[in-house]
This record gives sequence, C-alpha cells and structure tokens, in this order.
Amino acid sequence: MTTVLKLGGSVITDKGEPETIDRPALASTAAALGRADPGRLVVVHGGGSFGHHHADAHGVSSTASTREAAAVTAIHDAMGRLNAAVVAALQEEGLSAVPVRPLSAAVKSDADPTTSSESGRSLGLATRPVRALLTEGFVPVLHGDVVATPGAGCTVASGDTLVAALADRLAADRVGLCTTVPGVLDADGAVIEEIDGREAVADVLGDATGTDVTGGMAAKVETLLGIDSPASIFGPDALSRFLETGTAGTVVR
Ligand code: IPE
Repeated sequence: MTTVLKLGGSVITDKGEPETIDRPALASTAAALGRADPGRLVVVHGGGSFGHHHADAHGVSSTASTREAAAVTAIHDAMGRLNAAVVAALQEEGLSAVPVRPLSAAVKSDADPTTSSESGRSLGLATRPVRALLTEGFVPVLHGDVVATPGAGCTVASGDTLVAALADRLAADRVGLCTTVPGVLDADGAVIEEIDGREAVADVLGDATGTDVTGGMAAKVETLLGIDSPASIFGPDALSRFLETGTAGTVVR
C-alpha cells in the first residue's frame, strides 16, 4: 500500500513569524506517523512561514516567476531548513525519512505555465528516485519548492501540486492532506463528508479558477478532483485516523 501525505505548512510552522517551526505540532505529527504502520509512505510538506515568507519577499508565486538566482536560492534554502527539521522529527520517531528536493527533480510542463492552474499533470517530476527509495524502505520527504518553468524562469510548485503528481505516478492507494481545518466546511461550518465533483460544492468553494483567492480550499479540492486516488482533507487531530483507516475529514473522489 502506498500513501502520499501532505503536511500543510500552517500545521507545522507558525505562519505569523518568519521561519518559525511549531515544534509541538511537528513533534505530535511525527509521533502519530511513528505510531502508525503506513507501509510505503511519501511525505510532502508545505512552505508555511519558511517558503511563503521568502516567496512573498521576492514576488514569486505559482504564477509569478523569477529569473533571479538569488531569489530562487533564498526560497529553496528556506524550504531546505524546514525540510531538514521535518526529516529530523520523523527520524526521531523511527521513520527512515530522507529529503527529496523538487528544484532538482521537477519542471513545470504546461505550454504556458505561468497561467496554468495547478494540477499534478502540469508538473514533470522525476519519480524514479522516489520509487527506488520507497522500495529500499525509505520515507521520501518532498516539499513545495521553486522549480524550473520553461519560458519564465522559476515559479513555485506547491506541495499540493507535488502530491497530485506523486499520487498519479506512484498509483497511490490513499492520499491525505493534513490542514489546519478539519475538512472542507459547508456554509454552516460543518465538515462535508464527501465531494465527488466540483459542482456539488461550487457554492461553498466559490470560483477556483485562476489564482487562489478563496483561501486555498477551493484550489485544493480542484487539484484533488484531478487525481485518481481517493484523497482526504483533514485536521491534525484526525491524522492517526487517516493513517489507520485511509480516510478522514472530507473525502474527495
Ligand atoms: C509552498 O508550498 C512552497 C513555497 C512557497 C516555496 P505550499 O503552498 O504547499 O505551502 P502551504 O502548505 O500552503 O504552507
């Protein structure tokens, strides 16, 4: 069984303070993973106060590109510091976590990548090393990163986009997005149990085309609807349940 799990940047960092890890949250997340027996596991984490802080400072996003090498390294190095902390926390809980860094392994592949919506298929990702690491018993830990974007320089590939690309190419049995909210919420604030098409939740999510103006959830659902594996969006409290049962929070099919 192959699981692709994203840890949202806001779950493991303090988003209000530049480059600040939420140590208790990271430790309890790692502990939940250490207690579980998830089989083949790939972890992807977001940027939180590491990537987003530096990306904002350099005006770089998933659609705004840069050709400045110093901007690329500022964002990538910050993500490397967070990645090292995540890998260390997972190792402390007994997982064979190792870093896999997308700048060296991915390229956006759409004809016009700076205006394309984020989908796993718009990302070329070298999954052979990831597969080989899994076979050797490791837990590859990837992260949202700056990646080459033909014709534009570099743009940000979000953790969600990487999850979608990995889910497709590894034929993941289950996909989880651990976020700060317990799932996709309806107008009354209740968790929607299942989403099987964009229309069903259009009113709640708003228009997810173009940039992520609706706070991130619409874009997440859009990305997850594009992959074959069932995917769950859930909060940190439900991580153990997801690892045990394969579903938690809102399931997107
Ligand atoms: C952002 O990744 C990565 C960079 C800014 C380099 P995500 O968009 O997946 O991060 P979170 O989960 O929202 O923090």
